[in-house]
Amino acid sequence: MARKGSVLVVDDEEIMRDVLETLLSAEGYRVDLAKTGEEGLECYGKRAYDVVLLDVSMPGMGGLRALEEILKADPEAVCIIITAYATFDTAIGAWERGAFNCIRKPFQNEQILETVASGIKRRRKEEERQNLRRAMSRSVERGSIIGRSEKMQDIFQLVDQVAPARSTVLITGESGTGKELIARAIHMQSPRASKTFVTVNSSNIPSELLESELFGHTRGAFTGAVAAKKGLFEVADGGSIFLDEIGDIPPETQARLLRVLQEREFTPLGDTAPRKVDVRIIAATNIDLKEAVRQGSFREDLYYRLAVVPIELPPLRDRREDVLALAQHFIRKYNEENGRHVSDQLAPDVLALLEQYTWPGNVRELENVIERAVVIAPGSEVTRQCLPAEIADPSKAAGAAPLSTGTGSLDVSRGVNFYDEVRRFEIDIIRRALDQTGGHQSRAARLLGMNATTLNSKIKTYNIQLRS
Ligand SMILES: Nc1ncnc2c1ncn2[C@@H]1O[C@H](COP(=O)(O)OP(=O)(O)OP(=O)(O)O)[C@@H](O)[C@H]1O
Ligand SMILES: [Mg+2]
Repeated sequence: MARKGSVLVVDDEEIMRDVLETLLSAEGYRVDLAKTGEEGLECYGKRAYDVVLLDVSMPGMGGLRALEEILKADPEAVCIIITAYATFDTAIGAWERGAFNCIRKPFQNEQILETVASGIKRRRKEEERQNLRRAMSRSVERGSIIGRSEKMQDIFQLVDQVAPARSTVLITGESGTGKELIARAIHMQSPRASKTFVTVNSSNIPSELLESELFGHTRGAFTGAVAAKKGLFEVADGGSIFLDEIGDIPPETQARLLRVLQEREFTPLGDTAPRKVDVRIIAATNIDLKEAVRQGSFREDLYYRLAVVPIELPPLRDRREDVLALAQHFIRKYNEENGRHVSDQLAPDVLALLEQYTWPGNVRELENVIERAVVIAPGSEVTRQCLPAEIADPSKAAGAAPLSTGTGSLDVSRGVNFYDEVRRFEIDIIRRALDQTGGHQSRAARLLGMNATTLNSKIKTYNIQLRS
C-alpha cells in the first residue's frame, strides 16, 4: 500500500494510543506514539510528521504547550487537539495557538479519519508551495550558466535532451568546472523540477555513515540508532539525487547502489522489506572512473549503470572564449553582493592576462579571483594590481606551481600583493583548523565560524591537501 502519510499520536493514556494507532494504521498511515508532550516534541524534532494528534491534558507539558513548542519548531506543522474538556474556551485557545483542528472526546472514528485526511491534504499543499518557491528561485539561477564556447553550447544541448528523461547521468570534469551547476540544471529542466533535488557529497560523509544516510535505518539498526531515520533516497522520491564525488564511495556501498539502479528499490538498514523509489540519479566525479575500474577500486557494472548519459565538462583552459563572459558575470554578481560598482568592461591587458592563465581551479578559481578583485578594486575598474601575482605576472610565475599552499615565509621580492597575503592567511588558518580537528571538515568549519560548504569550496579552490 502506498504510504498515505505519517501521524504522531501524543497521549498519556495507553488505551487512547492503542485505539488511534489501530485506527490510523488500518487506513495506511505510518503511526508513531508518544506518551508525553516532552516525548512528542522529541519525536517531532527527529522527523516532521504530516499530522500530530495531541491530547490536551497530560501530566507534565500539556497538549497546548506541546502545540506551541511544535509550532515554534515548524510553523507549518499540522496539529489536531483532542480533548475531553472541549469547552468553547479550550477550542478557541487551541485555534488561537495555531492548531489545525480540535476534536472532542469521546470521538467517532470517522471524525478522526476525516480530520487527519484533511490535515494531510493541507500539509501536501504547503509542501507543493514550498517546492514551487524553491524551483522558481533556482530557475532564476539557471539563467546564469555561462558558456559561449562551442564545447559548452554542445553541453547545453545535451542537457536539454536528457533532462526530460529519467536516465542516469554521469558528469565528469576537473574540480570547479561546474558539475554541480549542470546537475541542478538537469533537474530544473526535468518534469521533477518541483520536487526535491538532494545533494550527497560522499567525500564529506564518513564511510560508516554513508549507507544509513543514503538508505535510512530503523530504530536500533545499529548502536546509536535511537530513532528511525529516512534515507536520502526516500527524501528524494519523485525528484533527483545528486551523488557528488561518486568515486569515493566504498565497495559495500557501491554494491547497494548498484541494486538501487537495477531494481529501483532499496532497503533501510535493519529493515527487511525493500522500498520502491522513483528517483533520478545524477552522479559526478573529478577522478577518472574508468581508471578506477581498471584498478579495481570502482565496480565496472556500477560504472556502466551510471554512465548511461556521460557528460564531460571541459576545463576552462580548453574554452578560453568563455573567460570574458564568466568574468563579467561574476563582476556583476559580486558588485551586487558587496554594494560595489566595478565596471564589467575589462581593460584589454587584464582580459589578456585572464585568458592566458591556465586556471587549475577552473571556473571556481576564476570566480574567486573576480570576487576579490571586485572587493579590492581601488576605483571603478579591475586593474592588473587586483589580480593575484601568478596571473598578473605570468613571466615570473612561469614554471612555478599555480599556487603554493605551503605556509612558508612570504617572498616579497616576487611582488606579493595584498591578494596573496589574504590568500596565504586563509590557507594557513584552514590548515591549522584541519590539523586541530584531525581533518574533520565540519568541526574545522565550526572552529573557523564558517559554514561547512564554504570551507569545502575553499579547500578545493586552494587545493589544500587533506591527510587521510
Ligand atoms: N558555466 C558557468 N557559469 C556560471 N558559473 C559557473 C559555471 N561553471 C561553474 N560556475 C561556478 O563555479 C563554481 C564551481 O562550480 P561547481 O561547484 O558546479 O563545480 P564542480 O565541478 O562541482 O567542482 P568540484 O568538482 O570541485 O565539486 C560555482 O560557484 C559555480 O556556480
Ligand atoms: Mg561539485
